[in-house]
Amino acid sequence: MITTNVPTQLGLLLCCLLSTTLSASEDPWSEKAIKNSVNASDYQGTLERNQLLELIEAGNQLFSARFTTDDGVGRPMATQAIIPTKRKRPPRNEFSRTAGLDANACSSCHNVPIIGGAGDFSVNVFVSEGFQHSDFDTTDPQFSNERNTNHLFGSGVVELLAREMSVTLMQQRTQALADAKNQNKPVIQALNAKGVDFGSITAHPDGRIDTANISGVDNDLVIRPFSHKGVMTSLRQFTVNALNHHHGMQATERFGTRWTDTDDYDEDGIAQEISAGDVSALVAWQASLAPPLAQAPTDTRWLEAAKQGQQQFDSIGCADCHRTYLPLSDLAFSDPGPMDAAGTLRYGETPNTVYDLSLLAWAETLEKDTNGDYKIPLFGDLKRHVIADQQVAALGNELLSQRFVERNVFMTTELWGVGSTAPYGHRGDMTTLREVINAHGGDARDSRDAWKALPKDAQNNLIAWLKTLIIKL
Ligand code: HEC
Ligand code: HEC
Repeated sequence: MITTNVPTQLGLLLCCLLSTTLSASEDPWSEKAIKNSVNASDYQGTLERNQLLELIEAGNQLFSARFTTDDGVGRPMATQAIIPTKRKRPPRNEFSRTAGLDANACSSCHNVPIIGGAGDFSVNVFVSEGFQHSDFDTTDPQFSNERNTNHLFGSGVVELLAREMSVTLMQQRTQALADAKNQNKPVIQALNAKGVDFGSITAHPDGRIDTANISGVDNDLVIRPFSHKGVMTSLRQFTVNALNHHHGMQATERFGTRWTDTDDYDEDGIAQEISAGDVSALVAWQASLAPPLAQAPTDTRWLEAAKQGQQQFDSIGCADCHRTYLPLSDLAFSDPGPMDAAGTLRYGETPNTVYDLSLLAWAETLEKDTNGDYKIPLFGDLKRHVIADQQVAALGNELLSQRFVERNVFMTTELWGVGSTAPYGHRGDMTTLREVINAHGGDARDSRDAWKALPKDAQNNLIAWLKTLIIKL
């Protein structure tokens, strides 16, 4: 495989020569799943439509590729931790449903109702960032948080929304600091992005920020839209994590020589397992998956029920968190993105690559609001909330906090696609929508109590409506 971060012309030349040699020597019956590694330098700047489609197709193949030991599957001397972390000794079994390797392909888990989708309970992941208990061999919740697979449709626009919201919040912080300095007194600044309230900060004239009243987002004001917990920044970051965690496939941009001083950090005998271009292809494919739009049922009884159900959903406060839509100003997806930080390629560090998602057929199906922004009907707010309390505790089932986020706090699940992605809840242990709605406690308690108080018919209508939010086959 090829490194792509080569600074000189000579380097580029060498790299391309090497790439031809490698792919030419790969037999058609080779047991490698990655027959040709993607060369990032072939994809720079704003990609033309055909280039973009080519990269997406490469990502499509990688997402379903059943990686093998010839590709570099396995991490005998590295844990699943996000920061490259050595093991003391190789594990007895390389594959294990608990600490991983736990699957052969991304699509082994993301396949309900189609590839790129959600996952059955049987492919749950035991998430432990791996510092304390990297080699746990039990499903006991003291060692890991058990999570159900979420679907990836619309994830490109989700990341774009998060980026725009982060920029807005940071501008509010900058403004508050300037105001505090000019007025020479503390300034309380409300934090609000796209109509979603994230609490407030107090800026002091000497440049200090009091963060105690920030709510639903990290103190650095970066919206992290991915994972049930809302703690992962980008598709790129998630992809590099997932490749290592599930498959022991290590991306050069995190585990390579530049950072770890070796090109075979996991000591499995295979160097440079995943190139920056391969990661980009996976990101481009995921970002290109169509946002699921509500599908009007042909059954007129269902149609009527769904119409009433949606009104009910708004009137009992479900839409306070599951926002009908968030406005997005731009469909240009740069990869790496502006919020990508340690552990992946970073914005400005490499020639900038942009996937213009408006070139994709689904972009035309997005409505626009009066400001000319795309209405992204995600039924989410990209904010974290307390979702369990003393009485309604089922979703407070985790014992480990993750990245300093409390155990009973989760990001509002985007409900687009929810009609196609049972089971429900972050652990995937609820088989019906009714069960997971009943399980809303904490900040959602009032809304959930209002749902509980609805007559049976009205509850059924609400479910009829949720069942129109499907992933199109
Ligand atoms: C063993 C099952 C499994 C495999 C294999 C797997 N995933 Fe996932 N994926 C999950 C689970 C479970 C989550 C939710 C994790 C969480 O909330 O902490 C998830 C979440 C994600 C997310 C975040 C989506 C969101 O909206 O929050 C992305 C992106 C993702 N996976 C990409 C990948 C890629 C790329 C691969 C292959 C390299 C992959 N996954 C392989 C189970 C899997
Ligand atoms: C305070 C914010 C908030 C309110 C209000 C709220 N939800 Fe949620 N919702 C969440 C969060 C957070 C989750 C993720 C729960 C988890 O899995 O940990 C969620 C998850 C869900 C899910 C599960 C999705 C899946 O794929 O697992 C459904 C369905 C749902 N909500 C419907 C509703 C309905 C219907 C209402 C109104 C009665 C409602 N929600 C009110 C925040 C909210």
